[in-house]
Amino acid sequence: MTLSSVPFRIKVALLLAGVILLLGVIAVTYARNDIRRILGTELERRGEGIAKNLAANSTDALLTDDLYSLYELVNRTKVSDADVRYIFIINSGGAVRVSTFGNEGIPHGLLEANVPLPDQSGQLRRLRTEEGLIRDIGVPILEGKAGTVRVGMSDQAVEAAIGRDTRSLSIMAALSAILGFAISYMLADYLTRPLNHLLRAVQSVASGNLSQRITSPGKDEVGQLEKAFNTMTEALAKNEAARRDLLKKVISSQEEERRRIARELHDELAQQLTSVMLSLETVESRLAESDKTEKQILQRAKQVVQGSLTETRKLIGDLRPSVLDDLGLVPALRSYAETRLHPIQCKVALSATGLPTSLPSTLETTVYRIAQEAINNIAKHACASLTTISLRLDNGIFHGNIGDDGKGFQVTQCEPVTPSIAGGLGLQGMQERASLLGGVLSVQSIVGQGTSVSFSIPMLTEDKNDRRENPTITGR
Ligand SMILES: Nc1ncnc2c1ncn2[C@@H]1O[C@H](COP(=O)(O)OP(=O)(O)O)[C@@H](O)[C@H]1O
Ligand SMILES: [Mg+2]
Repeated sequence: MTLSSVPFRIKVALLLAGVILLLGVIAVTYARNDIRRILGTELERRGEGIAKNLAANSTDALLTDDLYSLYELVNRTKVSDADVRYIFIINSGGAVRVSTFGNEGIPHGLLEANVPLPDQSGQLRRLRTEEGLIRDIGVPILEGKAGTVRVGMSDQAVEAAIGRDTRSLSIMAALSAILGFAISYMLADYLTRPLNHLLRAVQSVASGNLSQRITSPGKDEVGQLEKAFNTMTEALAKNEAARRDLLKKVISSQEEERRRIARELHDELAQQLTSVMLSLETVESRLAESDKTEKQILQRAKQVVQGSLTETRKLIGDLRPSVLDDLGLVPALRSYAETRLHPIQCKVALSATGLPTSLPSTLETTVYRIAQEAINNIAKHACASLTTISLRLDNGIFHGNIGDDGKGFQVTQCEPVTPSIAGGLGLQGMQERASLLGGVLSVQSIVGQGTSVSFSIPMLTEDKNDRRENPTITGR
């Protein structure tokens, strides 16, 4: 799952929760430092007060070397404050007279770690020890003449307090992040709801539903977007309708033009060829038995004329299938398929189910032209031995299938990329014709096994009245 596929509302919520958490971490760090500074200062002040008190109260006992009183004083003081780690008093000769370390003695190096000058009221040293930070305060007694008091204040209570505060602040930061996540998720969900709505509408248009509109768009920025979407789809629908109209006109004028050329060929060329044929026959009947050479020439001329007449009639049949007008779709298709495929040793099996005697003219022409192209493709490309044509009307939908057992082809290579109106009646033209009547057409082909062209076209009621005018051509 990539970041771009994560829903927007989760991204926003995570971002906000992350920011809250980061701010929380910064705040906790600052708070820890502040607490450490404040408590540390307070500890040092307390230590200094204790040391000064001891210095004042121990002078006499130190001068008289009253060790008992000194012990009393030192022990009482230590017990009275839990943060006091140690106390010891050194006399003017530098010897430790009393200490709270008991038998273990003063740790190595501690004695020299803080030596206040006689004129100082006190000196603070922060010592890093195995037990953690110790704030050591040394206070001279009688300006150093009687000795020095040393008090060590332990940082452990400070650290424990910092630990406690850090824990509760972290919990608060985490809770704020969770709350922030929930609130921003709901907010982002609320904000992206109209966008999701718009997205579904755009997807619907992309899948071909140009009637998709967004009802009652709002007045805010998203509302403006929704209005723009509606305007865009209206324009698209209009353009699509205009395109279909144009396509219909092009195809119907193409049909009309074919009809006109077929009529011309029939009325002019075919008639003239027939009359030439009749003239040739008249001349032939007048020739004497002995005019063998002339008769042979006439015979060849008659054959040429007959060939032209057959070709002309075939052309007329292709341009304007008179059987479609005379007998209807099924016989017309059977006749066309057999004429085209029998000469190349390809059998034709045609079945029709549920077809009424008369079909709407546009549907009939469309089906005929689609089948004509499919049959031509079989004749041109397939090398098939059997062609199966099946036509069926089911629930007002016309289903057709033209299959062959020929060599097949890679459909994807031939699939139309963009619909074209000028590309004749190739695979693309078949699809265009079907879609013009609101139908669909698909081509399936397996190399070495054959090809199948299937289409379904709804039989619209208004088409049923659209019968063709009576044909004027009888080409065959
Ligand atoms: N029934 C078929 N059998 C084998 N190949 C076919 C068949 N129908 C179509 N084709 C292949 O698809 C291509 C495209 O067909 P089409 O669009 O009708 O163009 P055209 O027939 O003018 O070549 C053909 O050139 C051919 O290679
Ligand atoms: Mg073709």
